[in-house]
Amino acid sequence: MVPIVTIDGPSGSGKGTISKSLALELGWNYLDSGLIYRCYAFLHSSKVENIPNEIEKIQHNYSLEHESITYQGKDITDLIRGSEITKLSSELSQKEEVRSRLTMIQETYRKLPGLVAEGRDMSSKLFPDSLVKIFLTANLEERVMRRANQLRNAGQKVNISELKNEIELRDERDTKRSHSPLKQTQDSTLIDSSSRTVREITNLIIKLVNEKY
Ligand code: DC
Repeated sequence: MVPIVTIDGPSGSGKGTISKSLALELGWNYLDSGLIYRCYAFLHSSKVENIPNEIEKIQHNYSLEHESITYQGKDITDLIRGSEITKLSSELSQKEEVRSRLTMIQETYRKLPGLVAEGRDMSSKLFPDSLVKIFLTANLEERVMRRANQLRNAGQKVNISELKNEIELRDERDTKRSHSPLKQTQDSTLIDSSSRTVREITNLIIKLVNEKY
């Protein structure tokens, strides 16, 4: 049996940072399911055919240690993390046919010695049998500031009130869609990351893993 930790939460909740920290510390595989939806949106907007095949090529060149995302020899990291693809990935992820096309790709990450999977429907849909399920949140102001820093680090200009609106809209789409919406499952542990350090949260989750595995 492959042990799995699932971490779901809204944009800016810190799930990316925590999941990577956890995967590195445990030495387990790491799935950023949001990145799969972002790749889909990027390839869809570039009118690429056979999208799953092309996503596999992008995944092949991506690693937890070297976080840059490349496609056909070009660095597309900033593009794929930028506002346009962010919005498009959230819109396309509402469609059931898109979700089911991307399910198989995500399931391939279930591999020994273990998996840390982050997203919106990891606990509810993709890996309902996971060992530890976390629902990570943070207050809206904190989430907006984190996202603003991410965009600034990628060299993009930020308008805080526009960004706040974008995040609220995306939260609304991601939580209210009819197929696999973001929601806390009954068997997951709620962690508010607003005033906790990455170290504290990582330790807390490792403790939960050690209690069960
Ligand atoms: O985690 P992220 O911000 O990179 O995700 C981008 C979008 O992809 C998000 O707004 C909704 C969609 N997504 C999803 O529908 N299901 C997932 N498991 C992960 C992401």
